[in-house]
Amino acid sequence: MVIDKTAVIGFPVDHSLSPAIHNYWIKKLGLDIKPYEKINVNPNTFEEQINSLKQDGFGGLNVTVPLKEIAFNISDETSGVSKKLRSANTLTLGSDKINGDNTDAVGFINSLDKKTIEENIANKKTLVLGAGGSARSVVYALNQLGGHVRLFNRTTEKAEILLNDLSINSSPIGTEELDDYANSSSFIVNTTSLGQKAGEHNNILSFENIKTETFIYDLIYNPKRSSFLEKAVAKGLRVQNGLRMLIEQAACSFQIWHEIKVDASDELISLLESM
Ligand code: ATR
Repeated sequence: MVIDKTAVIGFPVDHSLSPAIHNYWIKKLGLDIKPYEKINVNPNTFEEQINSLKQDGFGGLNVTVPLKEIAFNISDETSGVSKKLRSANTLTLGSDKINGDNTDAVGFINSLDKKTIEENIANKKTLVLGAGGSARSVVYALNQLGGHVRLFNRTTEKAEILLNDLSINSSPIGTEELDDYANSSSFIVNTTSLGQKAGEHNNILSFENIKTETFIYDLIYNPKRSSFLEKAVAKGLRVQNGLRMLIEQAACSFQIWHEIKVDASDELISLLESM
């Protein structure tokens, strides 16, 4: 089974790379389906717009900020991970029901090398910066991989809520404890939006005493190397940006809809980096 009409919805959605990713696979596989689109959907008229997209023949929708929670709430059936995260980034519009899934956490897991999982995450101290929507998926994923997760966020209460929601036995880190914990962590991931805007610097961590074997990940992929990753590279640490996660979460949605396994080829990565 393949789904003829698919799209990403968001508010705004203009800068989304999802069309480039899905259309790359659609073209590569020679699928006889419509090109994947991007559509602005206003949160205030979400259900009406989803119904009208369904009338127009759309069968699969990716959902981006700020619509993932509403997408979860209007789904008739939801996957286990979607329930846990209370958010859906993949909707399948059936004739009588909407299925909601979330591929962000598995996208994050699939973006990681086996060696990094074994040596830097499983049974190791890991640190997540931020407590927004993407932090939720990352914390869930690290916990699934056996990492001991601690969370730092500018607003501590949000970190507390996140850990409680995911039933993770851990506590938010305070500013005074942050550098000590970071220095003993094996994996550190920035999920905050700091560093996305031109000229903006992420100075949450001092990289002075981070261990040389620590793996540094930033969900930001534009710029390709954020100020956070720049600092890590200057210290000689291994780093990864969020592009691979973006592709892997898309690959999982693609498989849910079309039942075809696709991957993050070098050609696709180069294409996205050139955009
Ligand atoms: P996303 O869906 O990408 O995770 P989000 O839910 O808006 O986006 O979350 C943004 C994250 O970046 C939050 O953790 C936010 O911190 P607060 O919860 O305190 O707002 C963090 N963030 C954004 N701007 C920041 C800044 N200038 N300094 C520190 N953290 C920042």
